[in-house]
Amino acid sequence: MNKTTLQQLIEQASLLDQQKRYAEADAITAKIIRIAEDIQAENSMQQYTPGMQLTPGQQVQLDSGDVNQIEQVINSGQPGQINVGGNNWYVTHGTPDGYYLLDPNMKSKFLNMYPEFPDTKGDESIKARQDEQGNIFVDGNTLSKILGGQAWLACHDTVGGGSGQAARSPNEIEVGIQQQGDKKIPFIQSAQVKKKLIRTSASEFTLPDLPYEENALSPTIDAQTMSIHHGKHHKTYVEKLNEAIGKHKELKGKSIEELLEDISSLPSDVKKAIRNNGGGHYNHSMFWKIMSPDGGGEPKGEIKKVIDEHFGSFEEFKKAFIEEGKKRFGSGWVWLVKTDDGFKIISTPNQDNPIITGAGKPIFGIDLWEHAYYLKYKNNREDYLNAWWKVVNWKQINKNLNS
Ligand SMILES: [Fe+2]
Repeated sequence: MNKTTLQQLIEQASLLDQQKRYAEADAITAKIIRIAEDIQAENSMQQYTPGMQLTPGQQVQLDSGDVNQIEQVINSGQPGQINVGGNNWYVTHGTPDGYYLLDPNMKSKFLNMYPEFPDTKGDESIKARQDEQGNIFVDGNTLSKILGGQAWLACHDTVGGGSGQAARSPNEIEVGIQQQGDKKIPFIQSAQVKKKLIRTSASEFTLPDLPYEENALSPTIDAQTMSIHHGKHHKTYVEKLNEAIGKHKELKGKSIEELLEDISSLPSDVKKAIRNNGGGHYNHSMFWKIMSPDGGGEPKGEIKKVIDEHFGSFEEFKKAFIEEGKKRFGSGWVWLVKTDDGFKIISTPNQDNPIITGAGKPIFGIDLWEHAYYLKYKNNREDYLNAWWKVVNWKQINKNLNS
């Protein structure tokens, strides 16, 4: 395979993408995918040797003795040094905004380079931030600079069934573990083509636009919460969902409901990623629509009948809903579900929903994750759950009831 051609195609697709010429970009990216698949087939889990040059997107197998080390790194959530595949690597974990936390050693290297930080003496290529505890987070280019252009291993988090997530920077190498039957196969994979593949497969599932401005639900839900919730959290669920789907051709083209209904039969290496991120995508896509700046007030139409018949009155329904939401320990969702014998209020953990758990047809649900309310309501979930009804969109809920 001609690497130059591949690189040229990637650049071409990227340029078209920037110019918003998506159809042309997608056509070229389809070509890139075919080439990348060929490369992967050619290099199918070749054994890694120290110093080996990886082609973009190449995945290579590490020695099985590395499994424990990699698992420790993935689970620790901490940056540091490890020796994997006979090489010493700097290993780091991504944050939701695409930055990397520096370990004390890298932090002092960084501060040697920029002693005046946060003043970087006009070097605009440096993207870094410091939190209140003095931790420093940097973007991929800056990390690459600190490491003198060397690649690093990245574990974005453990959501993807123990493997790392999307490699985002050219010098970033994903480290992960693939389960094949009873065997755990440690691997590393280089970025670039992979990054492109993720963008393309985003055409499978896309982040829906908010049906209103970010500040439209204020003061009930503030603009900053909406911006982070939609633009960071939901966006990440979509990206990770597409990445998981991209690993299995047979899953492409399935609807989100089809994937979630059949969660137990999904391939084991992506099951957890699809459960968490597919659930996240489904739940949030529903959530944006059932809120509206023109919302609130008493239930209308068919949902009013359902509420009165099954829960007595709106006041009683609301009370039961809030109670159920308060009871859920940790993150999750509280739902109105249509079951075989009527309607029920239930809650689910994490990004699970009634489709995944088989509890029935979800009519609507409220997000109980702290990211949905913490900025305004702090740890007071009950206040958030009480206030939420000021933006409830009964019109949409009636649509959900009849869909
Ligand atoms: Fe959320």
